Amino acid sequence: MANVVIIGTQWGDEGKGKVVDLLTQKADCIVRFQGGNNAGHTLVVNGRKYIFHLIPSGILHPGKVCMIGNGVVLDPAVLIQEMDRLRDCGMPVTPERLVISRYTHVIMPYHRALDLAREGRKGAHRIGTTGRGIGPCYEDKVCRGGIRMHDLLHRKALREKLKRNLEEKNFLLERFFGEKPLDAASIEEEYLAYGERLSPYLDNVSMRLQDADRKGCNLLFEGAQGTHLDIDHGTYPFVTSSNTVAGNACCGAGIGPTRIHTVLGVVKAYTTRVGGGPFPSELKDETGEAMRERGGEFGATTGRPRRCGWLDMAVVNTSVRLNGLSGLIVTKLDVLTGIPSLKICVAYKCGNERIQAIPPELEAIEACEPICEEFPGWENDISRVRRFSDLPGNTVRYLKAVEELAGVPLYVVSVGPGREETIVLRHPFE
Ligand code: GDP
Ligand code: IMO
Ligand code: MG
Repeated sequence: MANVVIIGTQWGDEGKGKVVDLLTQKADCIVRFQGGNNAGHTLVVNGRKYIFHLIPSGILHPGKVCMIGNGVVLDPAVLIQEMDRLRDCGMPVTPERLVISRYTHVIMPYHRALDLAREGRKGAHRIGTTGRGIGPCYEDKVCRGGIRMHDLLHRKALREKLKRNLEEKNFLLERFFGEKPLDAASIEEEYLAYGERLSPYLDNVSMRLQDADRKGCNLLFEGAQGTHLDIDHGTYPFVTSSNTVAGNACCGAGIGPTRIHTVLGVVKAYTTRVGGGPFPSELKDETGEAMRERGGEFGATTGRPRRCGWLDMAVVNTSVRLNGLSGLIVTKLDVLTGIPSLKICVAYKCGNERIQAIPPELEAIEACEPICEEFPGWENDISRVRRFSDLPGNTVRYLKAVEELAGVPLYVVSVGPGREETIVLRHPFE
């Protein structure tokens, strides 16, 4: 029995979805604990591509229980769409397969409207959010005005909360942002219908996890976004609105820290970022362009091109610290095939100082210059390799350098988007 947390070590899109799908083979419950449909997790199974924004990436394995924890912000229309799409593919999502916390906060139409209005007003200073209402929903949670999933089951209570919220949100939308106000009655009907549809799935996720844990089940916690998009530890303000680090698996699902045994960080073999914010190892040249094209680096949620650059071990090492990583899972190694000379940023030069962690302050990051080491590339197609010992010597050298610089062992290497395009060195559930 083991309970494992998977998180992204960079700025998201590291391949967490693929990794969670792979590890689900030996897990019993798969739990999302933060974020919402700002996430886009892509799985390729038997040549077919699935993108999930809310449903945990374990859903394609029959017989496994997927859970959405209290720390998630949930847009019911998006969840229902994902459920319907799976049903149409012959994989109905029953209440035996999906459990939603009664205490998960609901993304309301005014959250989306405010997210877009705020970004629009910021102009050049915008964060580049996904526009899904994530930030405004978490704001309401913290200011104690939020609507939670169980509120959608009670007309009177929902009406009162909506009335109170809309008074304030419509004032902002109309008077401050110059946008159209929203209508309480139509929102009430729409969200009550969502409540009715989703009520069989609502439960106490924390209690369900305790039961599963006591029965000796393997629990797998699926992070969204990446460590450097964390609201506290990321490149603030160019971050998302939740804690993306492993510690939040406990708060966002309702499980204690002593119940977590392994934390694995997913590391893309290079670095990408969507939206604004600092990115010291960014490549604005043809190598960055080649990474984007070959890696298909276009957002799974918004379709925006992802910014690309060399692997930055100052970024990864900071993630080792913030998440207490037990080990690494390196993905998209195949994308580097054919680049004659590879670079890894091993530290930053900051004035006369050499630092090995990314500082959280924007001003300090701006003063950092990447110090890179060069590694010879490889030409051979590695996407068919399934054993570490069959990798080309230069690929092994690259991976060994990553392992050594991070100071934690390699568990898995991914050499293609497909579930089977994987080399497993250590399995966290064995
Ligand atoms: P996530 O948000 O961390 O789950 O990552 P995304 O799914 O947004 O982005 C990762 C993309 O890379 C997806 O399109 C995956 O199908 C793809 N992918 C994952 N692992 C590999 C790999 O090892 N090689 C290649 N070429 N693609 C991969
Ligand atoms: P996955 O789980 C990459 C980024 C947005 C923006 C910032 C804030 O697929 O790795 P938000 O809508 O959250 O308020 O936007 O965070 N962002 C992501 N970038 N992958 C993600 O998720 C992201 N989720 C949010 O682009 O810069
Ligand atoms: Mg993604």
